[in-house]
Amino acid sequence: SHQWPFYGDQGQSGITTPPQRHIMYMTFDMTTPTAQTLQILLARWSAAIAQLVQGATVGTVEPSRNGSVGTDTGEAVGLDPSSLTVTIGLGPSIFTDTYGLKAKCPTHLRPLSALPSDNLQPELSGGDLSLQACADDPQVAYHAIRVLARIAKTLGAAQTRWTVMGFGRASAGKGEETPRNLFGFKDGTRNLVEKSDFDQHVWVQQGPAWEHYGSYQVVRKIKMNIENWDTDRVSDQNNIFGRHKLSGAPLSGTHEFDTPDFHKKNPDGELVIPATAHIRLAAHENNQGVRILRRSYNYTDGLNQYGQLDAGLLFISYQNDPAHFEQLQRKLGASDALNEYISHIGSALFFVPPAAKEGSYIGAELF
Ligand code: HEM
Repeated sequence: SHQWPFYGDQGQSGITTPPQRHIMYMTFDMTTPTAQTLQILLARWSAAIAQLVQGATVGTVEPSRNGSVGTDTGEAVGLDPSSLTVTIGLGPSIFTDTYGLKAKCPTHLRPLSALPSDNLQPELSGGDLSLQACADDPQVAYHAIRVLARIAKTLGAAQTRWTVMGFGRASAGKGEETPRNLFGFKDGTRNLVEKSDFDQHVWVQQGPAWEHYGSYQVVRKIKMNIENWDTDRVSDQNNIFGRHKLSGAPLSGTHEFDTPDFHKKNPDGELVIPATAHIRLAAHENNQGVRILRRSYNYTDGLNQYGQLDAGLLFISYQNDPAHFEQLQRKLGASDALNEYISHIGSALFFVPPAAKEGSYIGAELF
């Protein structure tokens, strides 16, 4: 079972790390007006994550002193590190006068703009802090969040806000086979995988030194109407994405990794990749070179009130400026053929500070 480092000189793990199979994502609201409590929380979380990624417990499960409470809840004992990463994000509301941090606000951090086709529910949106725990074993990811939420509560620092548990990574790392989302399509074919692309599009490289190798985390809970989708003809589904369902090839080509030809026309003079196809609207060729790193997961919330399957995509993207996401979503929200089958119900933006150096903690530069 693989182990990823927590400490480092560049970005936090869990961003360009090849996507693990499962995610437990949670946001928090601060419950303290004291900067020092925030500082202690970030230090305690960092120390705990450094233990968790090694497959170690955070303190004792069964204390030797009779009658005391365990610090680690125990359910991950005997499971391996399972490639666990836990990535900490700071929301715009952290950088206010309350914590004396207004002047330290990361260059591009602010609430996301309202976007076309937003159907956002406040109880699934926002948050002061985020934790993204990814692992190849869902119980390892769950345990990490449980232990960290407990630390926040015990300190009186923060309480849970909203959460999504996801499975079946809907994005691929370098050399990994492209997985599928719940519409049955390969997702992540034209994602970023090269280090040079990460440096150019994902990691912050400008502005104050402490922001370098930070990144902006956009999270969107996107409900997918999978029962309606399943009644649609596959030829229509292919036109919606601009790709073939089974092979993942662009409609203009034959193999998954063929470069889409957005100019190609059929004998009737119609565009082979339709004008409203998802990949045409999202591709960097049609967006002034804008590219984002997608690191999404499928999720299910069981059944809705009508007994229909309630599921979707926990869309997560990383970019060195959230305006890049907004540019793409403004276009997708206005004309994507996919809109008939999806609804953006949750949304948040966080700045993910760079990794902590050994002996330090995430966000130490703020205090
Ligand atoms: C491509 C699915 C939402 C941005 C794709 C592909 C699929 C897909 C199947 C083609 C394979 C690939 O290159 O990865 C979905 C689904 C969504 C969704 C099911 C919602 C439920 C979004 C959102 C954004 C986005 C919200 C950004 C605002 C992109 C980009 C590409 C892409 C940039 C690559 C286009 C290219 O360069 O060819 N998506 N997507 N997607 N999607 Fe999405």
